[in-house]
Amino acid sequence: MTKLSVQHLLGIKYITKNDIELIFSTADNFKDVINRPIKKVPSLRDITIANLFFENSTRTRLSFELAEKRLSADVVNFSASSSSVSKGETLIDTVNNILAMKVDIVVMRHPKPGAALFLSKHVKAKIVNAGDGAHEHPTQGLLDAFSIREKLGKLKGVKVAIIGDILHSRVAISNIYCLKKLGAEVMVCGPTTLIPKYISALDVKVEHNMLKALQWCDVANMLRIQLERQEINYFPSLREYIMMYGLNKQILDSLNKEIIIMHPGPINRGVEITSDVADSKHSVILQQVENGVAIRMAVLYLLAA
Ligand code: NCD
Repeated sequence: MTKLSVQHLLGIKYITKNDIELIFSTADNFKDVINRPIKKVPSLRDITIANLFFENSTRTRLSFELAEKRLSADVVNFSASSSSVSKGETLIDTVNNILAMKVDIVVMRHPKPGAALFLSKHVKAKIVNAGDGAHEHPTQGLLDAFSIREKLGKLKGVKVAIIGDILHSRVAISNIYCLKKLGAEVMVCGPTTLIPKYISALDVKVEHNMLKALQWCDVANMLRIQLERQEINYFPSLREYIMMYGLNKQILDSLNKEIIIMHPGPINRGVEITSDVADSKHSVILQQVENGVAIRMAVLYLLAA
């Protein structure tokens, strides 16, 4: 198979296991490319890509831009704070105006869940969802699974615990879909108030005790509390949250086994993870960032084909 089954990458929910495997094998090749002295290939010459970011981002925006430049695409960037969105323009008008400048692919981050899906139905361009509210963040799900595969050589049967604010996390949802499609076992862990009620429909284990989750898993993916999406208090105090769900070196050492520690970033050091864990040999946080570029090159390359 050399083609994706989809025109757009809107979420992992909408792609197949074969799609994911094709993206991974393509990313393997691009990972070799970005580790060569000459990191650039001409694959997307004559393709124009617009990165539309309606929400803050560091890693994801830079990672997409680097991926595009390493494929030799022409790139335009747009962020909501400096655009006509603040003058009352609709999303479709904004994007159609950009497309009138002959853009082929739109990479979009947006605070509203479903924004990328909506756009894909109304504009003539390939859409890549770079995170839409608490819905999905497909390239993060892909790069996380790719990083586990790289570290452990497989995903089938691997036990992954996703720990923290599951309720507001698009990273958790995309990880769950991706890992389940590839045969991994998934557990979510956090306070009851931060575990969504629909989670049982996704066929994952639920655990509220972090130590038990850590004892069960091969990989722990630690998530940030998404304070910007919380309108009410979901736990009594940050101090109490840290006591129950903050991962430190002492807890890690007490496990008597090696587990892999992941984090999508941005890290809140001293909250969900302490510095000695984030910077330890167990952590693959920076490998995740490196793999992010290769995964995004693969996605853009396959969608443009
Ligand atoms: C995540 C995001 O924005 O969804 N970060 C990322 O893309 N690397 C997670 C987060 O914001 O906590």
